[in-house]
Amino acid sequence: MTTIIDGKQVAASVIEAVKTAARKLEQEAGVKTGLAVVIVGDDPASHAYVSSKSRMAKECGFTSIQHTLPEETTQEELAALVEKLNADETIHGILVQLPLPKHLNSEPIIQSILPEKDVDGLHVVNAGKVATGDLEGGLISCTPAGAMVLVRGIRGDDLSGLNAVVIGRSNLFGKPMAALLLNANATVTSAHSRTKDLAATCRNADILVAAVGRPQMVKADWVKPGATVIDVGINRVPAPEKGEGKSRLVGDVAFDECAKVAGAITPVPGGVGPMTIAMLMANTVIAAYRKAG
Ligand code: GUN
Repeated sequence: MTTIIDGKQVAASVIEAVKTAARKLEQEAGVKTGLAVVIVGDDPASHAYVSSKSRMAKECGFTSIQHTLPEETTQEELAALVEKLNADETIHGILVQLPLPKHLNSEPIIQSILPEKDVDGLHVVNAGKVATGDLEGGLISCTPAGAMVLVRGIRGDDLSGLNAVVIGRSNLFGKPMAALLLNANATVTSAHSRTKDLAATCRNADILVAAVGRPQMVKADWVKPGATVIDVGINRVPAPEKGEGKSRLVGDVAFDECAKVAGAITPVPGGVGPMTIAMLMANTVIAAYRKAG
């Protein structure tokens, strides 16, 4: 029997733990956890993500502040907002939603966030800690952290002797995911668009993680029987069967066929997605605890 990994359920238990921790910090130290989310421009998908982050922060009992800036915001204006949030004692986490409009350079903005407030885990200090195996001292990027919680739920904490393949090598996901798997003692392959015979590489994986942004690219004959398959893709594709102009979300994995081969698999939606927000909340309350000493 294949296990369909219920990311919503795991995320809900993380959120419960965050709520308890936030309440305790407020009662015992008088500190209310604060998250500031910044969005520039009017990309509808980004707005949807940001609203759910802000809403969840409120649900966790945090001070939740959303800065919605117009498309024509300048680099200097955005940098000034980050500086203000860096200096704001009531804010423990800062998230600048990506991608930014094309005229803005995201890298200096992300690197200007104080590492201890970088709840996205994108600052080089935090990325460096993940790369060097210092998983206690920094903040781990939310989607790989969430994906690891799901992997551990199936395979346990020690991945010794297991082959893991991560398809995709982005700074936001693929690189930190590979580092976290390696740190848990898996034998890790980072595969990408230039990998020769990707299918054969994937068939070797006890843990297969797909993060490429190509709808249903991973097919059943890429999956080793019994493998744990983690699908990080979120792709909107036309769904004429639902009516004219309708669309639906699919992952990077052809779910129905791969579910017949895998031992455990995440669905899209309802797999890794809910974990990303849950880990963002967890990072924010961790940042608040550290600040409170
Ligand atoms: N855009 C898509 N995913 C993310 C994320 O995890 N963090 C930020 N800041 N922007 C994103």
